[in-house]
Amino acid sequence: MSLNVTVVGVGAMGEAIVRGLLASGWETDGVDALVRSPDQAARLAESLGIRADVEPGVVIPGSAVVVIAVKPKNVPDVLHGIAAHLDRDSVVVSVAAGVTLDSIESILVDQAVVRSMPNTPAIVGEGVAGAAVGHHTTDAQLEQAISVLEAVGAVEVLDESVLDAVTAVSGTGPAYVFLLAEALIEAAIREGMSRRVAETFVHQTIRGAGHLLTETGVGAPRLRSQVTSPGGTTAAAVHVLEERGFRALVEDAVRAAAKRARELGAGE
Ligand SMILES: NC(=O)c1ccc[n+]([C@@H]2O[C@H](COP(=O)([O-])OP(=O)(O)OC[C@H]3O[C@@H](n4cnc5c(N)ncnc54)[C@H](OP(=O)(O)O)[C@@H]3O)[C@@H](O)[C@H]2O)c1
Repeated sequence: MSLNVTVVGVGAMGEAIVRGLLASGWETDGVDALVRSPDQAARLAESLGIRADVEPGVVIPGSAVVVIAVKPKNVPDVLHGIAAHLDRDSVVVSVAAGVTLDSIESILVDQAVVRSMPNTPAIVGEGVAGAAVGHHTTDAQLEQAISVLEAVGAVEVLDESVLDAVTAVSGTGPAYVFLLAEALIEAAIREGMSRRVAETFVHQTIRGAGHLLTETGVGAPRLRSQVTSPGGTTAAAVHVLEERGFRALVEDAVRAAAKRARELGAGE
């Protein structure tokens, strides 16, 4: 892949994208990073073999796609810092929760912009990202942005109004699954499994259930009913979850995350 990508901010999400790109076969000399500290730049160069620098003038020019992966509150400063170094036809892909296309385009006037919301399974090429297209973005620039996001998972172009929901569902979603895994492992240990055995069974159960969801085309309700015989063990467990308000809890959690995404985008 000859497209040059610069990732600005290599924390949890930025690193997931860099690692995902490299794992998908992107050449190391096609991936650069703009970071804040010379120490981190040196570490990235050593551990991942990519060019990393603290100066926008070194890594931004010549980048076809510039991914902004800093915290929402840092986005305006970062955009002001890179603006003068962007090529006219580069596309800027922001992954910052809540930060709107309008706010990005008010700083990067006339620049191609895509607002996206990926998630950390990008590290293993299993991410999913929603992407909303800016006002000055051509189809070719959108394709370039998508090619970067697709290197690390599935991508769907969506109306921007849905992106806070995407943030709350799939951007945040891995944490819901990991919390479930933690709780299930602790419960398994209390039921007599060793931690090693509990982890093996919980991890593989989540992986297997995920594969069933994505590969059979059978929806969650039917897959669940296949595990649930009347009067059986699953029915007993699901009864407790339903009675204690599991669905309402999930709905409240997703609503809280979407609200927080909107607040972050507003600079709160
Ligand atoms: N984590 C997720 O699962 C996830 C999922 C989807 C989207 N996102 C979005 O991704 C963005 C980053 O989140 P995160 O969880 O990866 O946060 P994070 O781990 O805190 O990473 C942010 C990184 O940005 C760096 N940074 C800050 N200012 C910078 C600057 N001026 N120039 C270069 N680098 C700078 C920070 O460096 P220092 O450490 O030196 O401050 C840090 O390495 C957020 O906007 C978030 O909404 C995250």
